[in-house]
Amino acid sequence: MSDSTRGTTLADLERRVAERRAGPAYGDDALIVCDRLVRIFTADGVEVQALQGLDLLVREGELTALVGASGSGKSTLMNILAGLDVPTAGAARVAGRDLLTMDAGARLRYRRDVVGFVRQQTARNLLPYLTAAQNVALPMQLRGGTKRARKAERVRELLAMLDVAECRDRLPHRMSGGQQQRVAIAVALANAPSVLLADEPTGELDSATGEQVFAAFRRANEELGTTIVIVTHDRAVAGEVRRAVAVRDGRTSSEVLRRTEVDAEGRESMVAREYATLDRAGRLQLPAEYTEALGMEHRVLLELEPDHIAVRPDDDGS
Ligand SMILES: Nc1ncnc2c1ncn2[C@@H]1O[C@H](COP(=O)(O)OP(=O)(O)OP(=O)(O)O)[C@@H](O)[C@H]1O
Ligand SMILES: [Mg+2]
Repeated sequence: MSDSTRGTTLADLERRVAERRAGPAYGDDALIVCDRLVRIFTADGVEVQALQGLDLLVREGELTALVGASGSGKSTLMNILAGLDVPTAGAARVAGRDLLTMDAGARLRYRRDVVGFVRQQTARNLLPYLTAAQNVALPMQLRGGTKRARKAERVRELLAMLDVAECRDRLPHRMSGGQQQRVAIAVALANAPSVLLADEPTGELDSATGEQVFAAFRRANEELGTTIVIVTHDRAVAGEVRRAVAVRDGRTSSEVLRRTEVDAEGRESMVAREYATLDRAGRLQLPAEYTEALGMEHRVLLELEPDHIAVRPDDDGS
């Protein structure tokens, strides 16, 4: 126990809780805020709860990977963040825009100016009859207000940054899948969005090509400071990002944070740590291997300690 925690009393802790309540609201400093997000689909009279009260905060400038089993709700979440779908309940805010209350005009502007979206299907990201340069220029034309010379310059800059300058005057069918995806990233970045979303952008690519595409996302994040959320099944990608959030049954369940540590000899190594997600109501999911190891079922005893909460098996029950 450290000196700073030794003297902590329950009254101190209660005071801290009260201070926190009076402080800023949930997600005030985040660029993406999902607060108890619910999305229910009805197909053939059957209800599917794709999102079941999902909480997620993403800060400006973060590169976050979303991982999770098929059907866990990743694409549903991405479509909502992209402004393509509207949640059934809860709250979702991106760059100060309320995704539940936007009218059609605001939604159009949101999709054009605030978010960029890259899909898994390479063929769906680019218009087949336009060259790479024309595809990248298109979002700027649709928005208007950018001078012709500035547009040409931005197209050049983006294609160079994503390492596809040589594709400038080619139609999509004359590019490889990896080149198409990198041009698609340039299209998504054309109007300098606050957030770049990508749903399995490397899903149709072999692993070496996928790695190049992922490197392109990383460059966009580092050089432009764009906040990026990538859904991926690719373990190599999920293993490289600083933050990988796991989605399970329509909720965020845990996350892995990585940071670089330098040892006494100056050697750098990546240190990963897994965290459980504590939701807004204070719920947290205990890993089955922990609860089974101690035979925990139905109810557990909680005790507040100065620097942790103890969870113990119910010794009064059976
Ligand atoms: N338009 C829809 N109508 C009905 N059900 C849907 C619809 N879209 C998604 N669902 C259902 O919602 C759940 C979550 O689907 P979602 O596509 O978000 O999963 P996912 O995590 O992206 O999976 P995958 O890894 O396979 O892409 C699934 O049970 C799915 O069948
Ligand atoms: Mg999906």
